[in-house]
Amino acid sequence: MTKVLFAAGDARWEDWQAPLEAAFRDAGIDADLAQWHPPAEVDFVICAPAGPHQDFSPYTGARAVLSIWAGVEGIVDNDTLTQPLTRMVDPGLTAGMIEYVTGHVLRHHLGIDRTLRASRDGAWRPEVPPLASDRGVTVLGLGALGLAVAQALAGLGFRVTGWSRSARDAPAIRCLSGAEGLRDALRAAEILVLLLPLTDATEGLIDSAALGHLPAGAFIVNPGRGALIEDRDLLAALETGHVAHATLDTFRQEPLPPEHPFWAHPGVTVTPHVASATRPASAARVIAENVRRGLAGEPLLHLVDRERGY
Ligand code: GLV
Repeated sequence: MTKVLFAAGDARWEDWQAPLEAAFRDAGIDADLAQWHPPAEVDFVICAPAGPHQDFSPYTGARAVLSIWAGVEGIVDNDTLTQPLTRMVDPGLTAGMIEYVTGHVLRHHLGIDRTLRASRDGAWRPEVPPLASDRGVTVLGLGALGLAVAQALAGLGFRVTGWSRSARDAPAIRCLSGAEGLRDALRAAEILVLLLPLTDATEGLIDSAALGHLPAGAFIVNPGRGALIEDRDLLAALETGHVAHATLDTFRQEPLPPEHPFWAHPGVTVTPHVASATRPASAARVIAENVRRGLAGEPLLHLVDRERGY
């Protein structure tokens, strides 16, 4: 029997146990899934950031540690982790992200806030919004989430620019990379979407210099990671109106402290890290496939490059 340790916390166990058991069964894996096994007997560890198990050294026989989160910045530097680490690429997580970003991009694109205000004030003020094909949207990060979001936005007709660390190619998206590419990507961003992993290279990437490259009156949507943005620089850009509005789902500190200026700022929409979540029903199948691969000695899906940080 394959011993799988669910180390993602009591609070998640109820949601995950049945989908994981079903996924193992469907994959033909004879798995013993539990929240505790004798550590040296564990074959696979399922983990989450801030889960109860942060010391992976007792799992001497584990073939892999499988994260149920897409972002692995909380575990990638863990020195006790010597086993291969995978991050989550879940069709449910991706679908949710497409819906969140599309919704918030369309909100800003169509000026829905303005419409609601005018309707409330009884103001007949016809302002026909531009078409998506007249609007430049830039997605920073072309990983599983960024690419899917960029393609969905391109499907709606937006002029989409995508930027990634290393050069990529994707239909209907202007793909840029490198420092020079970043400047051009920001210049094209009437609406900027942040879906980069948080690494040493991306921490604070959106600072005053980067914000300065955005067209005046740009919108920002950040469902990626809070620390991609220098908060103070964003607040300054909101003050001058250079950034018209920021919809933020992720923050340097979560929950966002009550005294943080983002809460009360009229130019900021705060959503509490709900842009998207791993969905146990679909994600359990990804975990089961990786367990199958691990047992068969096949390459794991979504293996984290510890040097690169994602
Ligand atoms: C959520 O933020 C994730 O990384 O999956």
